[in-house]
Amino acid sequence: MLSTVFLLATLAASAAADGYSCARNTLINPPQDLSKPYYYPETWRENMEPPQYAPNQKCNWKINVPQGMYATVIFYKKTKYEIGIQCAYPGKDLEYINDYEQSPYIFTSPQFQVDLKVGDKPGAFSFKVVWSKYPPGSAMNIELDGIHSISGVASSFYTTYTAINQVMIVGFSVPDVDTNLLRQSAIYDGDSVNAKFLGNLFDALEGQIVSTGNKLTIYTFGLENQVDNTLFMGLDTKAAGDIEQYTGLNCPVDRTRGCSIILHSYFYATAEARISRQPDYLMLPDSFPYNATLKIYGETLQDSSLFAAVNKSNYQTMFPMKVTNSLKIYHLDHDIVSIDVTNNADEAKWSTVYDGRNIKVQSMDYGRTSFYQDTMETFTTEPNTQMYFKFNVKYFDVNGPTSLAIKVYNNAKIVYSETYTATNLPTPYNVRVYGDKMDINYQTFGNYTQGFEVNIVTTKNDIPSNDPTNAPSAISTVVGTFTKGTTLKYESTTKAGIRQFSVFSVLIFALLFIL
Ligand SMILES: *[C@@H]1O[C@H](CO)[C@@H](O)[C@H](O)[C@H]1NC(C)=O
Ligand SMILES: *[C@@H]1O[C@H](CO)[C@@H](O)[C@H](O)[C@H]1NC(C)=O
Ligand SMILES: *[C@@H]1O[C@H](CO)[C@@H](O)[C@H](O)[C@H]1NC(C)=O
Repeated sequence: MLSTVFLLATLAASAAADGYSCARNTLINPPQDLSKPYYYPETWRENMEPPQYAPNQKCNWKINVPQGMYATVIFYKKTKYEIGIQCAYPGKDLEYINDYEQSPYIFTSPQFQVDLKVGDKPGAFSFKVVWSKYPPGSAMNIELDGIHSISGVASSFYTTYTAINQVMIVGFSVPDVDTNLLRQSAIYDGDSVNAKFLGNLFDALEGQIVSTGNKLTIYTFGLENQVDNTLFMGLDTKAAGDIEQYTGLNCPVDRTRGCSIILHSYFYATAEARISRQPDYLMLPDSFPYNATLKIYGETLQDSSLFAAVNKSNYQTMFPMKVTNSLKIYHLDHDIVSIDVTNNADEAKWSTVYDGRNIKVQSMDYGRTSFYQDTMETFTTEPNTQMYFKFNVKYFDVNGPTSLAIKVYNNAKIVYSETYTATNLPTPYNVRVYGDKMDINYQTFGNYTQGFEVNIVTTKNDIPSNDPTNAPSAISTVVGTFTKGTTLKYESTTKAGIRQFSVFSVLIFALLFIL
């Protein structure tokens, strides 16, 4: 009796272990009728379970994709992490295919491979290939100037970047959808989809994609129906400076999931880009590495666009930080830094000051001609606490009725109030006022300007004894040379020119919002 049971069990096992045998080498061409997919095994269809394969076999499929076409492939793999089932993009190495994951792969011309090399562990595997002609679509041609970056979302356009040097592509994370969807994209090393395949936007998150020449094309295969985040950004390799790994960060729509800028720069400088019409509020990191500098830029990586430089000695005074501009760039030279980012000022405690805090207040499009510069900020001390608010107006751009009103309160009484306008430009001095609340209100009344910047330091009681102006509400230290130009622009420090109005940023919005 016992031996019969044993025999039956053995029979059942060997039946399960049977499975299909595949040919060692198979070369596949697209059918004449493109509406007919290729299925492997040929009798299998996607409404069925994937069939078991026989153990101990090696098979390879080379599948041709003629120019002007691409192949959409879905793998149905049910194994226990079988590493011997792989695929290879045109001209690339074999890579692992996930189990139970059926989001499509897109393979471009001239040929991709599927490879099965299994031992005696059982498993099931099948796949489906559909060849398609690239649909007609408009070309979007973007010229990169060696300074600015231009981003894009998924669209039906064939986007071609032309750089002065080479084109670097920054891939953005997609926290609200399955990252594997990014396989539905392709990046080509030239001015059309006929150029050599460089990788896709999934690959761009893992390693840097750079064109060999000065042109690079991106196509996103219907992703516009599935993802609406910024997906990529192109820049000239010269604009990227020393960055060797550059990615983009989208935060999840559900902000309770959190969002962090994490830069791994153990081996080389890395950077992360954020694109949003909202400011980034950065929270104090738990620690900061010795010997590393985090540089934060707005719009470009030029020195003139540097918003802040954070290091071990100053980091505890710099946060929370509000980073404005549509494109924010976080660059780390060494080590690792992780900073939580939110779009919620309260969550970041942005408006509460503490002893020794440095605050930089800039309008949203600071340094660029824009209609969106109006800014209102209120900073308060902890309840029943007073501090010195030491501040200066570092930059003030006026157009028509623009005004900048600064007020300091103590116990609800105004102790300092000044409104700067075209006829009352700010003075190049630090002002220090004792109080518990400070208001800053920059209004352009519908006009465009290049915005303003106010720097503030809040201190509890450290008035240096050598400071000649010890008294609250007094004017002290000259911080720069005051020049009243005919342009009615005011700058208190020697800045190397204010950034000019940029068509590039406008293009970012064209891409973000019009498409
Ligand atoms: C700090 O950085 C400098 C310059 O980048 C480098 O030469 C030095 O070895 C670094 N020191 C440590 C302790 O990492
Ligand atoms: C940190 O940055 C400040 C200002 O740029 C600089 O003066 C200081 O030397 C830096 N400290 C370190 C440890 O790099
Ligand atoms: C903008 O400023 C100009 C003067 O520079 C003024 O003539 C115009 O009315 C202002 N526009 C608005 C919308 O206020």
